[in-house]
Amino acid sequence: MADSVDLAAYGARFTTDPYSVYADLRARGPVHRVRFPPPDDEDDLYLIVGYEEARAALADPRLAKSPATVGVQVAEEEVLGTNLLMADPPQHTRLRKLIAREFTARRVEALRPRIQEITDGLLDEMLAAGDRADLIEALAFPLPITVICELLGVPDMDRAEFRRVSNDVVAPPTMEVWNTALAEMAAYLDELIEAKRAAAPGEDLLGALIRTTAEDGDRLSARELRAMAFLLLVAGHETTVNLIANAVRALLAHPGQLAELRADMSLLDGAVEESLRHEGPVENATHRFTAEPFEVGGTVIPAGSAVIVSLAGADRDPDRFPAPDAFDIHRAPQGHMAFGHGIHFCLGAPLARIEGKVALRSLLERCPDLALDGTPGEWKPGMLMRSMRHLGVRW
Ligand code: HEM
Repeated sequence: MADSVDLAAYGARFTTDPYSVYADLRARGPVHRVRFPPPDDEDDLYLIVGYEEARAALADPRLAKSPATVGVQVAEEEVLGTNLLMADPPQHTRLRKLIAREFTARRVEALRPRIQEITDGLLDEMLAAGDRADLIEALAFPLPITVICELLGVPDMDRAEFRRVSNDVVAPPTMEVWNTALAEMAAYLDELIEAKRAAAPGEDLLGALIRTTAEDGDRLSARELRAMAFLLLVAGHETTVNLIANAVRALLAHPGQLAELRADMSLLDGAVEESLRHEGPVENATHRFTAEPFEVGGTVIPAGSAVIVSLAGADRDPDRFPAPDAFDIHRAPQGHMAFGHGIHFCLGAPLARIEGKVALRSLLERCPDLALDGTPGEWKPGMLMRSMRHLGVRW
């Protein structure tokens, strides 16, 4: 078995510039046995950093999502139930069918006016409060969380508390914190669903999911409902915040391209897609598992291994995207991997794209002289998300 690469040895560089680490690895081959820094430092983890290999792996049914494939039970599944992203066919097919119709491009397009209204309200508050702000607090975080809460029908949630718990689930400093956060999340969701049931489920998405019965009579069990609500709430707010913040950061760091965009807003789609490719919100896909030996990129990954597909690694592969480290809104980066690939391709992609575009366009229109305030935000450690703690801007 190949020697394991200890990514902790890269120190702070793995957080400040993980792309250069993935590039080092890619120069030696598309697939590596690695050990991530704590708390993700499990053994026998394989990391795929080449674009072609990443795409092939995400489309290959031999790589399973359910940890049960390799005979392990994980705490998340025990506590919250199996969610869509942890399920394999036929269960995945079934769960996805029950939810997919709520997230079609047409359904989410209907949310655009409300997304605009929420954005306008947040920008009113931001501008009224002074001439500088942390863009994450003012816009990038509250917009997607408000949208997903309204969509699901989550009332008067204690957002600060939910944010802490959700953060601890997605980027836990230690395994103890992760376990506590899972239990807190389960208790919170149970209470929420119970309250909804008691009040007669309304027209919102959670109400629809409680009532939902597919044409063939299928419906979600109580555990499946909890797991689905968990996934949507977390996926709906830990990701789009990074799309908005990372895109603004990149544009402010490239004034020439920002000026071009301001002069011609038809470049907005390209700017959002390039931002997704260049500094996507999700750095690495979630774990997959091999039930049998799995050959990819000339490496045979043994049965019983965990495999991580590096979306950031794939999207900076020079064989797929020339000069991959350059941010270029004219690039037309079709086929980028920011939303994943294959059967688990992001369900919320149409919603995230609308939110990202509405936020960027409105921010640029309302703040004609927007600039970075000080050095751009510090990156949070963690292998899953590419997110900043703060992003200071002034106008
Ligand atoms: C820019 C924002 C977003 C990005 C970059 C993103 C990225 C991703 C990625 C990479 C995956 C696949 C992970 C894997 O295969 O391991 C995924 C799956 C998923 N995303 Fe997103 N996401 C975003 C926003 C959203 C939003 C707003 C929602 C919900 C409202 C959402 C819901 C989901 C769900 C339910 C899945 C699982 C799909 C399945 O397993 O079939 N995402 N997302």
